[in-house]
Amino acid sequence: MPFPLDVPESVLRNRRSQKWQAYPGDVLPLFVAETDVVLAPAIQERLTAAVADGDTGYFTEIERFAGVCARFYSRFGYEVPEETVVPVNDVGVGVRETLARTLPAGAGVVYTPPVYMPFGPWIRRVGMSPVAVPLIDHDDDNPRLDLAGIERALADGARAVLLSHPHNPTGVLHSDAELAELADLAAQYDAVVVSDEIWAPLAMPGVDFRSFLAVSETAREVGLAISSASKAFNLAGLKCAFVVNGNPGKFAVPRSALSGAVGHFGALAGEAAMVDSLDWLDEMRAALASNLDLMERLLTEHLPRARWRRPDAGFVAWIDLRAYPGLGDDPAALFLDEGRVALSPGPAFGAQGKGFVRLNFACSEEILTEAFVRMGRVAAAH
Ligand SMILES: Cc1ncc(COP(=O)(O)O)c(C=O)c1O
Repeated sequence: MPFPLDVPESVLRNRRSQKWQAYPGDVLPLFVAETDVVLAPAIQERLTAAVADGDTGYFTEIERFAGVCARFYSRFGYEVPEETVVPVNDVGVGVRETLARTLPAGAGVVYTPPVYMPFGPWIRRVGMSPVAVPLIDHDDDNPRLDLAGIERALADGARAVLLSHPHNPTGVLHSDAELAELADLAAQYDAVVVSDEIWAPLAMPGVDFRSFLAVSETAREVGLAISSASKAFNLAGLKCAFVVNGNPGKFAVPRSALSGAVGHFGALAGEAAMVDSLDWLDEMRAALASNLDLMERLLTEHLPRARWRRPDAGFVAWIDLRAYPGLGDDPAALFLDEGRVALSPGPAFGAQGKGFVRLNFACSEEILTEAFVRMGRVAAAH
């Protein structure tokens, strides 16, 4: 079984986070993007020491943590200046604050469904208006940005593009050429690119992730990126993320307004992750790749008509079940009711997701295998 996803189900069932509490005990949860890992040893040690010391007060080491983030993020294509990093308490806050602080009220914000389901609500929550420009061929081997569609939306008045890069749920990395062209379009139409890069640390072995901000000088002029150690190291509940501001002279996203709300444990764990757990991160990426190999076999055996594209990054797979019409537009509903497997429903990611499910494969081989056996039974019955 691939380390570090080697946690028995009996131990996981003690967890009180969303993944293991949302459903009854007979359901295998492969939905929300938490991972079934043992925490990296350096993170365990740091948090254990903090608890022993009663070190549970407010976060204050903003500059120190910004330096940690800048050094870590510099692995993704350019030397990130420390002073451009703004710690924030989660990626959602980073995205919303960035939109709210860089755009005029009511501005149109392009997003690219099928995509992480809170994007539309986040855009609305800050008083902006979502403009959907779907990915081209999200269901094929080469999903990509509809740059002509994005240009039309910008020409019609949209003022920003909210990217998911690497893209959730397809796991695709937008190419440097696409991103450079997007940056040029944003410059031409005086628009902002906000790149949600929460999955950046989890590119598959042999795959290089590059930040949107790394693709050109123009990209830095028009863009901000937001990332976190939270997906890669399973720290989402500790509340810690960061914005990288490509153009602080233009975009006012101040630490004084945003960094005070960072979780102290999030920053302690984040530093232990991004400084002392890089070997562990490589093991995690290898474990995820190994699970993808297993999934390839499981799909062939249990859902032979399903289609999917191996993700370039992350731990979710976007699975096309339209060749099983009996499963309907929302196969996740039947898999839950009849198979006792919880997945993320495809339609939640946009109308493009009808007949799809998103499956979180950051679990043990036993759980993954059992989930496919159950899904195969449901598919066979319809
Ligand atoms: C693309 C994307 N952005 C943001 C988030 C949520 O991040 P946070 O919990 O830091 O707000 C997720 C969680 O899965 C995600 O996939």
